[in-house]
Amino acid sequence: MRAHLRSPRFPSAKSLVVVALASVAGACGDGATPASRGSSCTDTGSACTLGTAGTEAGLFLGSTSEGAGWTREPVGRLVRTHFNSVTSQNELKWGSLVREPGVYDFTRADETVAWAEANGLRMRGHVLFWHRLNALPPWFRGEIDAAADPEAKLRELMREHVQTVVPRYKGRIHTWDVVNEPLALLSDQIDPESVFFQVFDDYGEFLHLAFTLAREADPDAKLFLNEIFPSMNETSFDGLYRLVREMLERGTPIDGVGFQGHFLLGKPDRATLTERLQAFAELGLLVEITELDVSINLFSAEPDPVAAQADVFRDVYAACAAVDGCIGVTTWNSNDGDTWLDVDSIFGGAAPHTPTLFDADLQPKPAYAAARDAVVASID
Ligand code: G3I
Repeated sequence: MRAHLRSPRFPSAKSLVVVALASVAGACGDGATPASRGSSCTDTGSACTLGTAGTEAGLFLGSTSEGAGWTREPVGRLVRTHFNSVTSQNELKWGSLVREPGVYDFTRADETVAWAEANGLRMRGHVLFWHRLNALPPWFRGEIDAAADPEAKLRELMREHVQTVVPRYKGRIHTWDVVNEPLALLSDQIDPESVFFQVFDDYGEFLHLAFTLAREADPDAKLFLNEIFPSMNETSFDGLYRLVREMLERGTPIDGVGFQGHFLLGKPDRATLTERLQAFAELGLLVEITELDVSINLFSAEPDPVAAQADVFRDVYAACAAVDGCIGVTTWNSNDGDTWLDVDSIFGGAAPHTPTLFDADLQPKPAYAAARDAVVASID
């Protein structure tokens, strides 16, 4: 069985990050790169940003766009100052792009991609295929159910979607989440609520088609499968690992695995997280922490919850820095005033979660220095 699995393809995944960041910085309009926005992190005593530390360590350290677009300063300034990468939070979801069947509105997606490019940030595209919440257009299920051959109709819609979206951003979106959250929550089984699971005879064939279409549309983009709880739930990790091995055995063109990292039901242990990231790196894949937030409510019994939260951020950035195949960490929302947990989630009743690196006044929290120092400590 192992003979089918690839050994790591790259001598150093982190050197790929350095090359990618140099290329986006070259395209950057004002000549200011994330690495030049803070002092070098290796000068003892100098102030450096998380983004600068990331660039020097070979890591994409990012945050999300804020959905309302990048005109809303000063959040835009916060992100371009402190990070070297950005992920579209909602703008590239199928349900955000397509109101009527076949009618795409790229206004907000274009704005986000152009903003990332103008500021020399690596862009993560999120997400081509996700079945939960309102990530799919409202008409989607009806179109499929009305078709004489639902699987053929779904294949046609998938092809049209990828071929419309991915080439538009070819060479500009460095990394795509191709499929998001295949597993049922806290389970090792494919989510039975997934329309893709329900319609395809073989879910592996759905994954294969999704990744193959994306590869054809932009051969240079890094293609990721993204899952919510593998960092802190063993069952989720086991299910994801099995699924990814099956994809590799089938020859599905996957480049990487995203561990989202929404820590509100539990927190990861640094050693376990490092091992789990390493396990995928040993399959020859890239890994990333793609959606990190750490609810302060996890620490309500601690004497100093803010310090305890900072410890978890330190552990996550240190774990990624320790694994060569791990290419980055992205926080889900840049600041506590914008966290999805308080406004867009079923966990709103437990607000405020204050789960990010910056408070609602956009000031860095202890977690920020903890994360940055963990990255600086990893720089050769
Ligand atoms: O834009 C509309 C606005 O016009 C309307 O007035 C308002 C009324 O509620 O809703 C607004 O849309 C909301 C949108 O976020 C923008 O704020 C949607 O209702 C809301 O469902 C949507 O939530 C997003 C959620 O995914 C579902 O797509 C969150 O912002 C986003 O942070 C969250 O992100 C997901 C990742 O994609 C996948 N992993 C889990 C993560 C957290 O759920």
